Amino acid sequence: MILLGVESSCDETGLALFDTERGLLAHAVHSQVAMHAEYGGVVPELASRDHIRRVIPLTRRVLGEAGLELADLDAVAYTQGPGLAGALLVGAAYACALAAALGLPAVGVHHLEGHLLSPLLAEPRPDFPFIALLVSGGHTQLMRVEAVGRYELLGETVDDAAGEAFDKTAQLLGLGYPGGPALSKLADTGDPRRFKLPRPMLHSGDLDFSFSGLKTAVLTLLRKEAEIARADIAAGFQAAVVDVLAAKCLAALQQSGLHRLVIAGGVGANRALRQRLNDEAARRGFAVYYPPLELCTDNGAMIAYAGALRLNHDAPSDGRFGVRPRWELSSLEAT
Ligand code: KG4
Ligand code: ZN
Repeated sequence: MILLGVESSCDETGLALFDTERGLLAHAVHSQVAMHAEYGGVVPELASRDHIRRVIPLTRRVLGEAGLELADLDAVAYTQGPGLAGALLVGAAYACALAAALGLPAVGVHHLEGHLLSPLLAEPRPDFPFIALLVSGGHTQLMRVEAVGRYELLGETVDDAAGEAFDKTAQLLGLGYPGGPALSKLADTGDPRRFKLPRPMLHSGDLDFSFSGLKTAVLTLLRKEAEIARADIAAGFQAAVVDVLAAKCLAALQQSGLHRLVIAGGVGANRALRQRLNDEAARRGFAVYYPPLELCTDNGAMIAYAGALRLNHDAPSDGRFGVRPRWELSSLEAT
């Protein structure tokens, strides 16, 4: 069975074709980063309008790459939430209209479930149960994943998300928006030991995180330092984030007695984080799994994949749809 996946929850339009027999057939993403950069953040109305411009050309592109036609589709999956209401509405309206026109079922997918299951698109695939660290621009959560739809929240950030901390710190360092990848690149050229930044909540005894203080520490440092050592500050910041994320992952593995760790979300692309977790895994004897690098950030492939697992085969779309801008992952039900 072949699904078209449609992602439009924030500032990436992602389309993909997933075949339950053959795996991922094609995927394409248009990032709106350049469009939002001059505003220093995502402008919701601009995001919605741009999704409208991109969905059809991107659909044609993935169909072309896979050598398929609309008539070959068996279902359409779309991100139903959480995210920006207007942006979600574009993808949902498009997906449900297309499904209704083709007489196919449409399936609404939880964006974070898509991220969480995206490591299953790579080989080797992790078996259930596992601990998942979800680190994106909007979320930082540790979860125990028992099966598809059975997610227990173990801990989360009490303020900024890890990706948000990367982006805000990058902005302080004059690296533009969203600065996560640029900061990470700069950090790799700096000395992480020159500036010792705080490790917020490292010893809090729970599995929660806090990142807003780190950004303030960077700001203080920037005001104090006569000669701006941007690379060293970036390296110090990245080391602090990696330390905290790794420590909490290890604690979650230990407390749960599990030996599999899955990393998902945009910050999962961070090289230093991967290096550190790989080292810890080798030393302590657990296994760590990542999505393919290009599927760490928002994409349609993870939506098509999660959609395939959640599809109700007997329910062709009647064209009606709704979005859920706020939607708790733990409220999902098992398949
Ligand atoms: O999962 P994602 O694409 O979107 C959300 O659903 O939030 O994650 C985007 C976030 C951004 O904050 C971005 O700066 C961060 O992931 N990010 C990175 C890296 N690549 C993306 N942060 C650190 N290092 C990276 N290499
Ligand atoms: Zn995301």
